[in-house]
Amino acid sequence: MAPVPSLPIKVGHIDDVQELRKAKPATVPERFIRDMADRPKVVPNLSSSLDIPIIDLSKLMKTDKDEVMQLKTACEEWGFFQVLNHGIDLNVVEDIENVAKDFFMLPLQEKQKYPMAPGTVQGYGQAFVFSENQKLDWCNMFALGVEPPCIRNPKLWPSKPVDFRETLEIYSREVRKLCKTLLKYIAVSLGLKGDVFEEMFGVAVQAVRMNYYPPCSRPDLVLGLSPHSDGSALTVLQQGKDSSVGLQILKGQTWVPVQPIPNALVINIGDTLEVLTNGKYKSVEHRAVTHKERDRLSIVTFYAPSYDIELGPMAELVDEKNPCRYRRYNHGEYSKHYVTNKLQGKRTLDFAKIQSKTSN
Ligand code: OGA
Ligand code: NI
Repeated sequence: MAPVPSLPIKVGHIDDVQELRKAKPATVPERFIRDMADRPKVVPNLSSSLDIPIIDLSKLMKTDKDEVMQLKTACEEWGFFQVLNHGIDLNVVEDIENVAKDFFMLPLQEKQKYPMAPGTVQGYGQAFVFSENQKLDWCNMFALGVEPPCIRNPKLWPSKPVDFRETLEIYSREVRKLCKTLLKYIAVSLGLKGDVFEEMFGVAVQAVRMNYYPPCSRPDLVLGLSPHSDGSALTVLQQGKDSSVGLQILKGQTWVPVQPIPNALVINIGDTLEVLTNGKYKSVEHRAVTHKERDRLSIVTFYAPSYDIELGPMAELVDEKNPCRYRRYNHGEYSKHYVTNKLQGKRTLDFAKIQSKTSN
C-alpha cells in the first residue's frame, strides 16, 4: 500500500480493543465515545425494499440482459450489492475466515510482532489515526498489501497461524479473478467494451484488511469503523459466518444495515470507479457499528489500478448533460492522500472534485 508519511505523527495511547473488552471497564473509555451527532441510532426494522441489491454472477456470466440491467441499477442507485454464485470455492471462503479469526485470537504479544506504525496502513493496529484527540474505532485491524509483490511487507505476514500465508495467497488469487470478472460486467453495464478497466489499470494493486469488532457494552456510543468511502476501484467484503449485522451504508439520509446472506460477498464501488464513470456509479459512504453481545469479523479486499496510472472521467461518460466532475490525477498520489487522512465520509474525494454549480 501507499507510501509512509514523512512527518512524525503523535497519536497518543491507543487501547487494543480486544484487551479492553477482556478487562471489561465499567465505562467505555472517552476516546471511543463519539460526539452526539456521530453516534449510531438504533435503526428501526426496515422494509425489505431497503435491502441492498443481489446479483447472481452465474447469470451475469451468461450475459443475461436482465442481470446486467440489475447490476447497472445497483451501481447507480446503491453503489453496493451482494453477489451470489461468485465462483469462489466455499472452502476457500471458510479457510480465510478461520485463519483471520485464529490470528485475532492470538495473544496480544504475538499480534504485536506485526505492528502498524503510526500513520501507515499495513500491520496490526488502528489505521487512519493521525492525532491524539481523534476518536478511535471499536475495532482491531490487520491489513496487508498483497499484489503486486513490490507492495508486500513480508515482515508483516504472520508466521502464526501456520497456514495464514498460504491461505491468504489462495484467497487473494480467487478474489482477484472475481474483481476482474465483475469489472468486465460493470464495463458492459456502462455500454463500454468489457476489457476497458483491465486495459487501463495496468498491474492492479490488491490489499486486504481484516477487521475484528469485539462486542461493546455501549454500542450506542461508539462506532466500529468511521464513515468513509473506499479509495479502491472495487471492494469485496466477506462477513464472518456467525457475525452480527454491522455494516451500514448511507442511502440518502438513512444508514441502511447490510443483512448478511449466507455464501454471498458484499461488493462496493470505490472512489476510482466514481471518478472514471464521472459520478454515474457512486462510491457510497459506509461505516460499521458494534453489538452488545456479539463479535464480528470482516475480510475486505481492495482492488485498485496500478499507482503509476493517470485517471480521470472517461470521455464516453462526459457530455453536455454530464459535464466533467473530476480532474485528472495520478492514482498513486490519490492513494497517498487517502491513507494520510483520517476517514471522514466522502471528504477524501474532494481531492479530485471539480467544484462547480453542477457538481454535488
Ligand atoms: C472497510 C469497511 C466494513 C466492515 O474495511 O473499508 O468498510 O463491515 N469495512 O468491516
Ligand atoms: Ni470500506
